[in-house]
Amino acid sequence: MDFLGKSILVVGGSSGIGRATSLLLDNLGAKVIATGRTKKHIDETLRLSARIVLGQFNLPYDINELLNWVKEKTDSLNGIVFSQGVIFTEPFETFRDHELESMWKINVESSFKILRDLLPLFKNGGSVVFVSSIDAFFGEREPSSGYALTKSAIIGLTNALAYELGKYKIRVNSILPGLIRTNMTEDFFKSEFDSVREEFLRRVPLGREGSPTEVAKLITFLLSDDASYITGDSIFIDGGYHTA
Ligand SMILES: NC(=O)c1ccc[n+]([C@@H]2O[C@H](COP(=O)([O-])OP(=O)(O)OC[C@H]3O[C@@H](n4cnc5c(N)ncnc54)[C@H](OP(=O)(O)O)[C@@H]3O)[C@@H](O)[C@H]2O)c1
Repeated sequence: MDFLGKSILVVGGSSGIGRATSLLLDNLGAKVIATGRTKKHIDETLRLSARIVLGQFNLPYDINELLNWVKEKTDSLNGIVFSQGVIFTEPFETFRDHELESMWKINVESSFKILRDLLPLFKNGGSVVFVSSIDAFFGEREPSSGYALTKSAIIGLTNALAYELGKYKIRVNSILPGLIRTNMTEDFFKSEFDSVREEFLRRVPLGREGSPTEVAKLITFLLSDDASYITGDSIFIDGGYHTA
C-alpha cells in the first residue's frame, strides 16, 4: 500500500485505534492530519512521530475551529477516518440525558458535520472509514443501549453515504471492532474485571482481545487503492466474536 502524496485526516488520532492508524499511515508515506482532545495523548503521539500534524479540539464544541484548522493544513484530502468516540454505560432505565446527548454528538453528529463540510476537499475521489463497534449488532453484558444507538447509526450512515457519494468516487465503509485494548477499555483489563473479561473472551473464537495496530491495518487497507471496489461495507474485526 502506497500513500505517498496522499493526505488523510484522522479524527480521534491521538489515542488507541486512531493513533495506531495515524502512525501506520505516516509510515506508509501519507501526510497525516489528526485531531485529539487531550494534550497528554497528543504529545505522546507526537513523540512517536513528529511528522503527524496534530490539533487539539474538544468535540462537538470546537467543530468550527477543527474545520478551519484542517483547511489551513491542506487544500485536498484523499481520506478521512472517524475514530473519535466515547462510551457511557448506564442501565437503560436511568440513562442520563446529558450522557446520551454527549455520546450522540461526539460519536455520530460530529462525523456527519465534519464530512459534509470537508467534502469539497475530496478533489479526486477518496475513502471514508467510520469506526463503529460490535455493539451495533450485539447486546453486551455491560448496559450499552446509548452506545449501541450511536454505533448502529454509523452503519446506516455508511450505507446511505456509500450510495450518495459514489458519484464522486468516494468510497464509504465502517469497521466493527470487538474488544481492543486502548484507553477506552483499559479499566476492563483491571483484575476486578478478570472474570467478566474471561467470560467475554470465551465467546471470541481467537480467544483474545485485539490490538489497535491490527485494527489500523484494516482501516489502512480500506483507505488504500487496494480496496478500490469496496464501498458500503461494514466489516467486523473482532476475533470472530460475531459468529458465536
Ligand atoms: N477499544 C475497543 O474495544 C473498541 C471497540 C469497538 C469500537 N471502538 C471505537 O473505536 C474508536 C476509537 O476508540 P479507542 O478504543 O481507540 O479509544 P481511545 O483510545 O479512547 O480513543 C478515542 C479517541 O477519540 C478522541 N475523543 C474522545 N472524545 C473526544 C471529544 N469530545 N472531542 C474530540 N476527540 C475526542 C480521543 O481523544 P483524546 O484521547 O485526545 O482525549 C481519542 O483520540 C471509538 O469510536 C470507539 O467507540 C473501540
